[in-house]
Amino acid sequence: MTNPQLVEQTREGSVLVLTINNPPVNAFSPGVPEGLKAGLEAAAADDTIEAVILIGGGRTFVAGADIKTFNLPRDQAPDLRGTVEKLDAFPKPTVAALHGTALGGGLELALACTYRVAVGGARLGLPEVKLGVLPGAGGTQRLPRVVGAPKGLEMMLSGSPIGAAEAKAIGLVDELVEGDLLAGALSFARRVAAARPLPRISEREVVGASPELFAQAREAINKTHRGQLSPSLIIDLAELAATRPFQEGWQAEAVKFMEARESPQSRGLRHIFFAERESARVPGLAKDTPATTIRRVGVIGAGTMGGGIAMNFLNVGIPVTIVETGQEALDRGLGLLRRNYESSAKKGRISAEDVDTRLGLLTPSLDLADLKDADLIIEAVFESMAVKKDIFTRLDAVAGPDAILATNTSTLDVNEIAAVTSRPQQVIGLHFFSPANVMKLVEIVRADKTSDSVLATSMAVAKQIGKVGVVVGVCDGFVGNRMVHRYGEEARQLVEEGAAPGDVDAAMNALGLPMGPFQMTDMAGLDIGHAIRVHRAQQRGEPEPDGWLDRVVKTGRKGQKTGGGIYDYDENRRPRPNADVQALIDAYRAEKGVTPRELTQDEITRRLTATLVNEGARILDEGIAARAGDIDVIYIYGYGFPAYRGGPMHYASEQGLQGVVDDLKRYGKAPAPLLERLAGEGKTFADWEKEPRS
Ligand code: 3HC
Repeated sequence: MTNPQLVEQTREGSVLVLTINNPPVNAFSPGVPEGLKAGLEAAAADDTIEAVILIGGGRTFVAGADIKTFNLPRDQAPDLRGTVEKLDAFPKPTVAALHGTALGGGLELALACTYRVAVGGARLGLPEVKLGVLPGAGGTQRLPRVVGAPKGLEMMLSGSPIGAAEAKAIGLVDELVEGDLLAGALSFARRVAAARPLPRISEREVVGASPELFAQAREAINKTHRGQLSPSLIIDLAELAATRPFQEGWQAEAVKFMEARESPQSRGLRHIFFAERESARVPGLAKDTPATTIRRVGVIGAGTMGGGIAMNFLNVGIPVTIVETGQEALDRGLGLLRRNYESSAKKGRISAEDVDTRLGLLTPSLDLADLKDADLIIEAVFESMAVKKDIFTRLDAVAGPDAILATNTSTLDVNEIAAVTSRPQQVIGLHFFSPANVMKLVEIVRADKTSDSVLATSMAVAKQIGKVGVVVGVCDGFVGNRMVHRYGEEARQLVEEGAAPGDVDAAMNALGLPMGPFQMTDMAGLDIGHAIRVHRAQQRGEPEPDGWLDRVVKTGRKGQKTGGGIYDYDENRRPRPNADVQALIDAYRAEKGVTPRELTQDEITRRLTATLVNEGARILDEGIAARAGDIDVIYIYGYGFPAYRGGPMHYASEQGLQGVVDDLKRYGKAPAPLLERLAGEGKTFADWEKEPRS
């Protein structure tokens, strides 16, 4: 399994260069420690070698430990800590030559070297917190010793990398190299070859530490990383670095790293890391399917959604023509868009010049014919099939022959929309989530006739504008809204049985969702959900819906936009229960003959998550989503499901699918056949993904 060839030894005069070649990101996989050990031993044994350089082959230095090996028992995982110890104790100078991304274990290797040099474009960071772990190869002890406690904490708790120039300014990098990295590293190594004593980071003191600093950090993570394990472990270890001898912190770090690595939170975050990358691989789509370049975009509808969609393209320098039906609506939309940019500029996120550049790329129009040169046209108008059909018919007549015609519908049948055009192969759904300039998810709806190249282009475009695109099939609500529809039903049912809306939201908040179902409803607008329920009932020939929430809408309380809905809101937009709503719920229960009972938080959480998972299993069975991981990615990026729970499907697999089935049955719901089968066979959704498909 191990492959010492992953590290190449090259002699350059008195310097031995160890090049790590483990594409694509030179992760610290099996074979890398063996190769480095062999290189260091060769350098130690040869008196004519005066210094050693560690460098990455290909596009990057080591981007971290190999996350795939995190499931291995500790003694079978590549020995990163052993390698770091060898480097720290090495009697000759070692120079880490950095380019690309020196992340996690990669930066820890570099920190164990005597010196670090980097090209200007290199990025350095300890992103372990994003995987629910902590720097486990000395990072928690060495980084604060180099950059001081405040900066060390900031880097480890945010997980965000810094650029080479900043790294040089704070002493993390000793020299910036212009031009060829190896040549620069060699000249540096020759200059320092004879310098003694060798500076060792492990022998330094931590500056800038104080009890207040650590107390503040602990308080801050209660907001930024509520409910998460690894950030608090990171703070504990940074405090040890500041207060105890190096060896003590180093030993403690090993124990805490394993504790974090074995936690369900880390498993959840690792699952999402790979699921997100996997979601980019579309089943049935050849890897080399050509994606066309999108040079100009058209957006139809300048409402909140259309404006938000347009911003995504303007932000990356793609010109947008935005079309509305009337001057007033157009002006309102443009005003909103401008205010959005100006508020970003005020917060310092973009410069005043950026505002002008981006708005300069926007062409407002009242004429659909102005979209004739657009390569991609996204319709974002009122959710009505008749309106959309009309737009697509007219669009078909004016759009360029190769243009992609996309609809931002969240519920309607994309096949039906495509059918009114002469080019259904060029029609696709691009379902953005509100606010569209912020939310990272785009459901890419593959209709029956959507061509592979349109699909590949849509995936590429999503990536280009910084979104996570997940391909889904056509059905009512696609993946996200279809599941959330069931979830909403169950939430209303819980209230009918006796829970207060606040209890239901509190249960989901405790699970880690920033908003529970009713907080979400109040934000989206109660009237929107009510209109969808009315529409569905009409389609099915059922009587008009008359649940307690429908009755709340009829009192005029439509949510935050009318100052209150299910809740009242104080000046800080904090929800407060409303007595009239509670009275309405009480009356509703009495009318239905329901004696309210007490529901525990555990029951609420279980029922809501089981409902999501049950619908998710149906979605998988129908092929609407290709993988359970795709559903998890959708829920995390579109609905705020906590990434450290791994998404609803992973969370259910962690709890055991049989438990989900039992819960569903206990509460009178029919389990989806796929869910019931997997549970019966003791399998998880990950096991299902490995099953052969016909
Ligand atoms: N381990 C295993 N595989 C990794 C990996 C890692 N650390 N980092 C990236 N990969 C894989 C990806 O899964 C992907 O595989 P695929 O092509 O089969 O899907 C491939 O490498 C390319 O990755 P990306 O698609 O993400 O490529 P990008 O160029 O967009 O990004 C990157 C490159 C910035 C390095 C990004 O991959 C990344 O952030 N990786 C994770 C870095 C990280 O978290 N490092 C710390 C690991 S934990 C650690 O070191 C513990 C230690 O302290 C003990």
